[in-house]
Amino acid sequence: MSRRTADAPLTSKIAILDFGSQYTQVIARRIRECRVYSEILPHDTTAEEIRRGGAQGIIFSGGPASVYAKGAPRVDRDIYKLGLPILGICYGMQLLARDLGGAVESSKRREFGPGKLSVTRAGRLFAGLPRKLEVWNSHGDKVTKLPRGFVAIGTTENSQAAAVADMKRGFYGLQFHPEVSHTPRGSEIIENFLLGVCRCRPDWTPGVFIERACEEIRAQVGEDRVVLGLSGGVDSSVAAALLHKAIGKQLTCIFVDNGLLRAGEREWVREIFGRHFHMDVRIIDASAKFLGLLRGVTDPERKRKIIGNEFVRVFERAAKSLARERKGRPYKFLAQGTLYPDVIESVPIAGNPASLIKSHHNVGGLPKRMKLKLVEPLRQLFKDEVREVGLQLGLPREIVHRQPFPGPGLAVRILGAVTRERVRVLQEADAIVQDEMVSSGWYGRVWQSFAVLLPVRSVGVMGDERTFENTVALRAVESRDGMTADWVRLPYDLLARLSGRIINEVRGVNRVCYDISSKPPATIEWE
Ligand code: XMP
Repeated sequence: MSRRTADAPLTSKIAILDFGSQYTQVIARRIRECRVYSEILPHDTTAEEIRRGGAQGIIFSGGPASVYAKGAPRVDRDIYKLGLPILGICYGMQLLARDLGGAVESSKRREFGPGKLSVTRAGRLFAGLPRKLEVWNSHGDKVTKLPRGFVAIGTTENSQAAAVADMKRGFYGLQFHPEVSHTPRGSEIIENFLLGVCRCRPDWTPGVFIERACEEIRAQVGEDRVVLGLSGGVDSSVAAALLHKAIGKQLTCIFVDNGLLRAGEREWVREIFGRHFHMDVRIIDASAKFLGLLRGVTDPERKRKIIGNEFVRVFERAAKSLARERKGRPYKFLAQGTLYPDVIESVPIAGNPASLIKSHHNVGGLPKRMKLKLVEPLRQLFKDEVREVGLQLGLPREIVHRQPFPGPGLAVRILGAVTRERVRVLQEADAIVQDEMVSSGWYGRVWQSFAVLLPVRSVGVMGDERTFENTVALRAVESRDGMTADWVRLPYDLLARLSGRIINEVRGVNRVCYDISSKPPATIEWE
């Protein structure tokens, strides 16, 4: 979460104060979907900081605490004097009510799950919406006495004040969660608040972002040089394209071939970034080194550690020799495709499942000793925004809509020891999976689809010959964020084609299985 709010923006902006709800990021998403820029800030951000940041409205998120509890998160009271509209959601509503002179009580019945809101006064918040709305509740406390100036604008079975407003000041409170998908018309309520109440313009577009990001990159970097670890994944590719647009030849990308990549990946990266975009891409073939270090290693965690450590070493060495070879300005910056969800930490409030600090996986592999300063131009964006920006920058759809690929590469999909031969077998099987998934139209409909090489050989028959060969497992999962996943019910015809092609075309495989486990209890990758 950023402590600092950027100076007054060119675009409309909403500040979200975070009270530790697991849905705070979802609120930010919904606002961005309305094409309004939003920023999540700690709940104790001062009124002055918010004013300086240039927000046109404020949202108080929900949270697990009770407003009267000791240590419950509060706001700087001067926020109420800024003259900005405020929308309080759940805990945010209770806090708003309490701070402005109302009363909140623990209700006897905890309301959790679906409910029906009866809109009693449409006003600006419910403009254009039906009088009865499906809403999603998750709260114990409720507002029992409205502060002066407030009226109830919606009721539920359990509450006479499920939606409240002080229309004069533009203060609104909702007991339910408009941001979650279980409140089907919730996005429209949020949009009404943004456009109708706060008078925001829907001006947050990829084009605006790119323009602003380029200016910021140039201001940060000046005449110095930037190095970027390009993996061919969506985030580093979009970061590379953006930096290239901003500073052209001052950017050098380093692509490390660890010998554990998909078939043809290296050539593909050279073609797209080198030939098509004319970027300065340095390709380092470190496959012999990586495969050497992995020889005989079968433990999944050890594999990951070896690969992670060696990556940092190779990258560091490449960046240093780059700095030595190139005359002129030094390399002072390291660019990374860190995204917003990697950056935000929720406020650590007891009982909040989202309060664990996210591990910065992009930052994890940083060459610390190099003392490079970070450039992270995507740190305000969510994944789908990154994709839009990538397309706008002219990256091909195949890159922008790529499925995730694990950092340790095929090593975690080759169970048991990794050898060049086993990498070859898996690369060939994987290429067939990608090919068939794309041509059948399934590639873009699933979160991930890939092949796994098992340390199992079984008997088969080919022609008149008895075979004793490898087994490939196929995995296709659907997921929103990789945290949970379910296996995809791929059509039998497609599975048959996959199995037929893999067994016929990949030397060394005579059996194909389909993985029908969900996460949890299984994971997406096999190691
Ligand atoms: P699991 O296997 O834990 O994977 O269910 C969840 C998601 O994370 C990806 N994954 C990784 N991504 N570095 C990455 O960048 C890694 O070391 C790594 N391990 C797993 C996995 O592909 C899935 O999308």
